[in-house]
Amino acid sequence: PAILVLHGPNLNLLGQREPGIYGADTLDSINKRLSTQAEQAGVSLDALQSNHEGALVDRIHQAGADGTRFVIINPAAYTHTSVALRDALLAVNIPFIEVHLSNVHAREPFRQHSYLSDKAVGVISGLGALGYELALAYALRDLRIAH
Ligand code: DQA
Repeated sequence: PAILVLHGPNLNLLGQREPGIYGADTLDSINKRLSTQAEQAGVSLDALQSNHEGALVDRIHQAGADGTRFVIINPAAYTHTSVALRDALLAVNIPFIEVHLSNVHAREPFRQHSYLSDKAVGVISGLGALGYELALAYALRDLRIAH
């Protein structure tokens, strides 16, 4: 796929997980909207959620070989812990946008550091599920300009 959307740990519980912070949308409904948005632009999109750091690393490596042009990633808690995800994204050299549903800067101090942000094209945090759609709009525009 041209665009890969990655969701980190616990995001499979969206809709029931702390809805006051993360909203009422399920991951499935978010992914469906993104698929429709990409389809309308004639661009292929794949989405993966995993609770396992290594599975996300493996999928990023695969992206480096399968022609993926842009990654949209909500690394969830791995944002604040994972040198491995940072290194994987740098290894495949695919541009990426970091998305968070909540405003991580308005929460606990440990959420304010990201291992990815300084390497991201951009970071969207606090706009809920809309953040993914805005990130995708950017990626689609970027791909259009690039070819
Ligand atoms: C999150 C923010 C992270 O701090 C947290 O660990 C998550 C979700 C967000 O989307 O707001 O699991 O990435």
